[in-house]
Parts: sequence; C-alpha cells; structure tokens
Amino acid sequence: MDRIIRPARNVLGAVQLPGDKSISHRYAMLGAIAEGRTTIRGFSSAADCEATLGCLRELGVAIHREGSEVRIEGAGPGGLRTPERTLDAGNSGSTIRMLSGILAGQLFVSRITGDDSLRRRPMDRIMEPLRQMGGDITARDGRYAPLEIHGGRLRGIRYRPTVASAQVKTAVLLAGLFAEGETVVEEEVRTRDHTELALIEFGADIRIESKAIGVRGGRVLRGGQFRVPGDLSSAAFFLVAALLFPASNLVLHNVGLNPTRARLLDFLSSQGADVRISNLESVRGELIGDLHVTGGPVKGGGIGAELVPALIDELPVLSVLGAHSEQGLSISGAQELRVKESDRIAAVAENLRRMGARVEERPDGLEIAGGQRLAGATIDSFGDHRIAMAFSIAALAAEGESRIAGAEAAQVSFPEFYEILDSITELRG
Ligand code: S3P
Repeated sequence: MDRIIRPARNVLGAVQLPGDKSISHRYAMLGAIAEGRTTIRGFSSAADCEATLGCLRELGVAIHREGSEVRIEGAGPGGLRTPERTLDAGNSGSTIRMLSGILAGQLFVSRITGDDSLRRRPMDRIMEPLRQMGGDITARDGRYAPLEIHGGRLRGIRYRPTVASAQVKTAVLLAGLFAEGETVVEEEVRTRDHTELALIEFGADIRIESKAIGVRGGRVLRGGQFRVPGDLSSAAFFLVAALLFPASNLVLHNVGLNPTRARLLDFLSSQGADVRISNLESVRGELIGDLHVTGGPVKGGGIGAELVPALIDELPVLSVLGAHSEQGLSISGAQELRVKESDRIAAVAENLRRMGARVEERPDGLEIAGGQRLAGATIDSFGDHRIAMAFSIAALAAEGESRIAGAEAAQVSFPEFYEILDSITELRG
C-alpha cells in the first residue's frame, strides 16, 4: 500500500499512545507460564504482539482479547502443550528469540519460524547460550529460522552476551526459569530492563546487581493485573515531527519512561529540544508520564556505541531529525542496524538520498549533513515499519509531496500511526 504524505505547517494536539510493544510481549509470555490469571490493560496493538499471542495459543494457553485488554489463563509450570503446527512469529524478532528461551526448557519438540525478513535475521545469538544451558536447537544454515527446539532439562550458566541485545538477555533469563541452579546474564552495556522488572512482578527468584542479573529456576510465577504504558519508541516519531516545526505544540499522554528507554529524551534535550515530563508515576516498576514538546531547532552531533543500544529503535527517525539539525548527525557503532527488520543503515541512506539529502553510509553507521531541506520523493519502506514511519515524518517537512511505498509495514508496531499523524498535522497551503 502506498501512502501520500503532504508537507505540513506544524504539529498540534494531544495523543494517547497504544501500549509498549516490548512490555506487552513480556507480560504475555510470563502470564502464559505463570499460575493463575493475568489481565493486561493497554496491551500493544502491534502485529508483532499479536504474533506472540498466536504462538502462546498454539502452545495451549487460553487467551481472551478484547481491544487492548488481554486475559491470559496461565498454564503454570509444565503446563504448555506440544504445538501441532510450526509456531509463526511473523515479523517479530522479540517473539522468536524470547520465546525460544521458554521453548528450550519444555519437555517437547517445537518449531518456530517467521516471515521473509525474520528468516534472514541471525538466531545464533540465542542458540549459543541456550545450547550452553543444555538446550538442543537446530537452525537453517546453522543460524536462521526455522528453528527446531528439542526442549529438555537445562542448567544455569553465567553468560556475557557478545551483542548488546535485550532479546538475547531475555531468552537466557526465560530459559533460566526452567533451569537447575542460577542463570546469570552479565551485560557490558545495559539494555532495556523490562524483563527484569516483569520477572520481579511475577514473583521470580531474581537478583540484580548493577549489570548482572541472576534468576533461579523452579520458582512458580504468579499471574496478576498489569497495565502497559504507551510506547516511547512510537512516541519518538511524533516527538521528532513536532521538533521539525517551530510552531508545534504536542502532548503525548501515558508514555512509558523506563530509564533504559528514556535516554531518548536526554538525548533530545542535550540537542536543545524542549521536551517536558509531567504526571510521572510508577506502575509495576515501569515509569509512566506525559510528554510535552514544542518545536524548535536542534544542534546535532554524534551517537556512538555507548548510546546505540538505548536508542536502537529510534535511530531511523533520529537520522531524519539529524538532516534538519544545525550540525548534522554522525552515528557510529550501530552495525546492529544492519540486521533489524531491514538493513536500516542502507534503508535510511537510500531514502535520505531520494529526498536529496547529503548522507554517507558507513559499515557501522551514517554521516548525515545538517541544515538540509528535503525534497518530496517516492520512499521505499523496505517492508520495515520503522523506515515507513520515519520517512513519513521526513515527508512532512519536505518540499512537495511524497509517496511512501509499503506504508502498511507500520502495522507491525503501530497500526494507528497514520490515523494519529493525520489528526495532529496541519497541512501547508
Ligand atoms: C527489543 C529489543 C531490541 C529492539 C526491539 C525490541 C526487546 O532488539 O530493537 O525492537 O523488546 O527486547 P535487540 O535486543 O535485538 O537489540
């Protein structure tokens, strides 16, 4: 599906964001293996999270969904059932990688796969630690889905991931719930900690010491009532959109502000952006608040390896902001972007060039010149939700209209994106 985006004059209004994708996956998976009922309010509308629910249903878990409210009847320890079909994770890296940790600890054989994009993404990063725990997993060409998982008895390990990845950390910790002894993940660079917070809330035997997280197997998890905050990674598109126009004034309600994600806000503030937080509260260990952003110029600068994991999903839209910044934006240490839903370094460079921007592609990042006025163009989403949405924002500030080819990719994380975008943009002319 193509979508035409016309230039805007400013961005105004108030937005209620749908639930965070990362947290929704985790509450659903933990609810499924817990004892008792889990109700989740504000569950993400993303196709990715629906894929997680689909896989859990296939594993015999009773799930009832009504809009953004999801009720899960926990199967309890040992309660998951042998799936009759190959599990389908769709486009979702979180689903396949994190669920594999659970599957490795079940006493049955399962297969899990996904769409064309997911089948091109590396899975050896979870296979290696799960094998160290005693898991028996095979993959196409040794590292790609479909994965075949012969679940069995696992033992705890101490693991230092070689890539900074919350998905890898989570796969190992979830497997650790079914392992003998303690499983410890020691991170060099801290990644989002939603799993740790959720494990505490579900009653897991967990200890956290700065960058090391340990979980002991055998403790029965307990279901409960949960509420998912709005998705900050979805909010990022509108924050950037507002910053691009001096007269913008936008409020984003109920946004997840977990500190391992909210470094986005520190980064924007350090750039001179005016983003304010109000009504801050903590729900189940997750911070939630409202964001108020007004438009105005940003400085630009650099994002290096230390900051990349905290901003990983926002880098495409921050690249768009970078092209409009005073000094431009240099991104390095971001080779992970090459193995996301698309090769996001190549996709950002290609689309910025189509809009007439000066940009250099590096193996691990991008050099984006600042002070640029982009021109409307035909954009290729490369089937990647964040590319479709990032360049829809770029198109708002461009000269002339743009066509986003493959705009439907937005469904993967944010089905309401275009509806909300239309409601907050005032068109030019
Ligand atoms: C996610 C972790 C990140 C992120 C993805 C969601 C998560 O992936 O890009 O969108 O929910 O844990 P990696 O762990 O591969 O960096």
